[in-house]
Order: sequence, then structure tokens, then C-alpha cells
Amino acid sequence: MKLFIDTANLEEIKEANSLGILDGVTTNPTLLAREKREPVVQLREICSIVKGPVSAEVTAQDYQGMVKEAEELAKISENIVIKVPTTLEGLKTTKILSQRGIRTNLTLCFSPLQALLVAKAGATFVSPFVGRLDDISTEGMDLVSDVKLIYDNYKIKTQIIVASIRHPIHVLEAARIGADIVTCPFKVIIHLLKHPLTDIGIERFLSDWKKLKDTLGR
Ligand code: G3P
Repeated sequence: MKLFIDTANLEEIKEANSLGILDGVTTNPTLLAREKREPVVQLREICSIVKGPVSAEVTAQDYQGMVKEAEELAKISENIVIKVPTTLEGLKTTKILSQRGIRTNLTLCFSPLQALLVAKAGATFVSPFVGRLDDISTEGMDLVSDVKLIYDNYKIKTQIIVASIRHPIHVLEAARIGADIVTCPFKVIIHLLKHPLTDIGIERFLSDWKKLKDTLGR
């Protein structure tokens, strides 16, 4: 399973990239707004740090506007993947971009049937938002299982990016289901690695080592 980071923050991206575990980046207008910089400049810098796909979202409402924005965003770098909302206009945009060889990530996907349609329109990636479904008392990971089943049934090539991840259990369940990718906030990536027994184990080894050295007098 590939691991993307869901942020537009350069420090977080550099730190995650230095761990050797990072396969790509997803951004959205909220995440870019948090950085308070010109989005194109920020995206260019992100693409210079990470070799894998970097999702950049269109904000137009109609497909003509979306396609125009997508073409500008695609000029930033080869890494750029165009994030398109799962709407009627988004589907039209996806069809056009797919015909032009521009990769897309269909975002704000909340149902298996939406996922089926975006795949038919030519989406490279689909992003089911699990956390936001959990927030409204609906099992977010059931959506991922359904999308995976449907895509497997029809040998659909669209890759599933599990998004709106809130905690490590989402990542574990995504891996069990066999999702292609998860995109995590930086703090979740750190939580994936942390284990109290690892920390306790290191402390114990170091203290025993020190005792040995003291015994040997050096
Ligand atoms: O990748 C989608 C993600 O940014 C949405 O996450 O936490 O705002 O639901 P959240």
C-alpha cells in the first residue's frame, strides 16, 4: 500500500520524505489556504521535494473553468494530478482530462456508486473520505470495502486513495481491505510508528548497557 501525506506544509512534507516512506502528496484548498502563500509557488516547491503524484484541486464550478484551471496546474510539474470534485461537471472534466493524458483524483467521494461513475469517466484515482463519514455516524471504511469490491469485480484500474484519515486504525483497515493508497496527515504518520513498548525497550537496553559499562569501569 502506498502512503501519501495529506498536507501542503513544506516542513511536514520534507520530514515525511526523509523517512523514506513517502509516495506522494495530496493537497486541497483548505490545506493550501493554511500555508498563506501563493498556491502555485507552494505546489511547485512541493513537487521539487517529492517525486510521486502531488494532487492539486480545481476550484471552478463548471467544467470549462475546471479544465482551464487543470491545464494551468498541470504546467507546474509532471507530478501534478488534478483533484476534481465528484459532481456532474467534475465527470465531464475527468473525461476531457483523461483524453488529454492528464491524471485526475476524484475527491469528496462518499458513495460506491459515485466511485463507479468516476472510474467510468476515466479517473486515475478516487478519494473516498472516511473520516467525514464517521463524523456523521456512518461507517467510513465500509465505503472503501464496497469500492474495492466493485473495482475488483470489473477489473477497474482507478486507484483508491483512502482520504480524510483521522487515526492509525483507518490505515490498518485500509491495508486489510487492500486499498492502493492512504493519504494521512503528518501526525497520523508519526502515530503509525510510535509504540510505547519500543520506547520502553530502548530505555531498558540503554540502562543495561550503562550498567555493564559502569561494572567494567569505562
Ligand atoms: O484528503 C482529504 C482530506 O484533506 C480531508 O480530510 O480531515 O478535512 O476530512 P478532513
